[in-house]
Amino acid sequence: MNDPALDAETLRERALTTLTTARARTTLLTSCVDDPDLTAQHSPLMSPLVWDLAHIGNQEEQWLLRAVAGRDAMRPEIDGLYDAFEHPRSERPSLPLLPPSEARAYASEVRGRVLDLLEGTAFHGTRLTEAGFAFGMIAQHEQQHDETMLITHQLRRGPQALTAPDPEPAPPFTGPSEVLVPGGPFTMGTSTEPWALDNERPAHRREVAAFHIDTAPVTNGAYQAFIEDGGYDDERWWTKDGWAHIRRHGIHAPLFWHREGRQWLRRRFGVTEAVPPEEPVLHVCWYEADAYARWAGRRLPTEAEWEKAARHDPVSGRSTRYPWGDADPAPRHANLGQRHLRPAPAGSYPEGESPLGVRQLIGDVWEWTASDFLPYPGFQAFPYKEYSEVFFGPEHKVLRGGSFAVDAVACRGTFRNWDYPIRRQIFSGFRTARSAEGA
Ligand code: AVJ
Ligand code: FE
Repeated sequence: MNDPALDAETLRERALTTLTTARARTTLLTSCVDDPDLTAQHSPLMSPLVWDLAHIGNQEEQWLLRAVAGRDAMRPEIDGLYDAFEHPRSERPSLPLLPPSEARAYASEVRGRVLDLLEGTAFHGTRLTEAGFAFGMIAQHEQQHDETMLITHQLRRGPQALTAPDPEPAPPFTGPSEVLVPGGPFTMGTSTEPWALDNERPAHRREVAAFHIDTAPVTNGAYQAFIEDGGYDDERWWTKDGWAHIRRHGIHAPLFWHREGRQWLRRRFGVTEAVPPEEPVLHVCWYEADAYARWAGRRLPTEAEWEKAARHDPVSGRSTRYPWGDADPAPRHANLGQRHLRPAPAGSYPEGESPLGVRQLIGDVWEWTASDFLPYPGFQAFPYKEYSEVFFGPEHKVLRGGSFAVDAVACRGTFRNWDYPIRRQIFSGFRTARSAEGA
């Protein structure tokens, strides 16, 4: 989406490709387990997979068939069931949900009508149709739920249902462990990216003092040193809330880890394996990331620092769409889209590095930042308050960059994710920073 004046045929093609890619992933995630597995709740934190499937179809119907095309509801009686605000996740298994065959038929009926609509859509005239925004929003929504469903697969007990090739082995990274980002203003957020969501807007100038940031995300090996040093038993490293939380829940390692003798093992999509030391740490909550950083004599980067490290080009003074420039993500840039079911070793993807040499900002693991999820100056909710606005406030922390589980369409240098600081079933890791001397 480089050129804001893209012609209608290019937009139609882009909408079709992203919707089709998303549906292929949804189909895989909901066909690799049997029907009882689809309707079961694998964790109170998650919906049954069959809820995600029909919710994907219902959002698509609401935004593309009703809001854009002005059609009547296909099944008005099911809207309430798939409204995320009416029913918290823990309640969803007890609802009279569409059974798997009906959920599949409903989602594919909606999609068929959407593809007909796409043929005749003019990509201008309203804010929803401008540059195909609503189609992009719906493709992103489906991909976000595909990541959510992959989290459900990771929580699910039982034999392996999904497989994917491992990332290409990378030569060990030998560059500097941190990079200096010079102080000064940069452009944060965007007003021109056509499919950017409301919380990424508008572009605005931000002053960011000089700081150092890790070249790559914190690895399992580095995190193990924190564990072995008694990090989970030393109150000094934890915030008051973080300490209370890990004590109450007996947390002493990332989620899915357990120790056998001296060795740490982890469960990953139904397989138990040794924790690979060179891989970015995964499944830590904000409190753990924050405590590790303090133990290391460092801190989490703020959201603005993260985005400046990812987008600021010190030569042109511009902010680019991605760390590597303005080109859409390709496999050589980043580990995205569930191509692999794990992060790549820290220091991978030299072609994805930022102008200052920071690696793996996009893909691999979502990165916790120090910042609360707040609106940018001039924020306007669009097209609905329940996407972002109702989540603004100090109870949610921002994550940036995107994991191996999220598709390129739902991930940008400006993209903002958020969650509660206790959450760690998500594909979350982090990198650390420190203020530069004199800054
Ligand atoms: C942006 C990932 C926090 O999953 O709650 C999906 C995305 N919003 N359906 C979420 C979303 C509505 C959202 N996150
Ligand atoms: Fe949703």
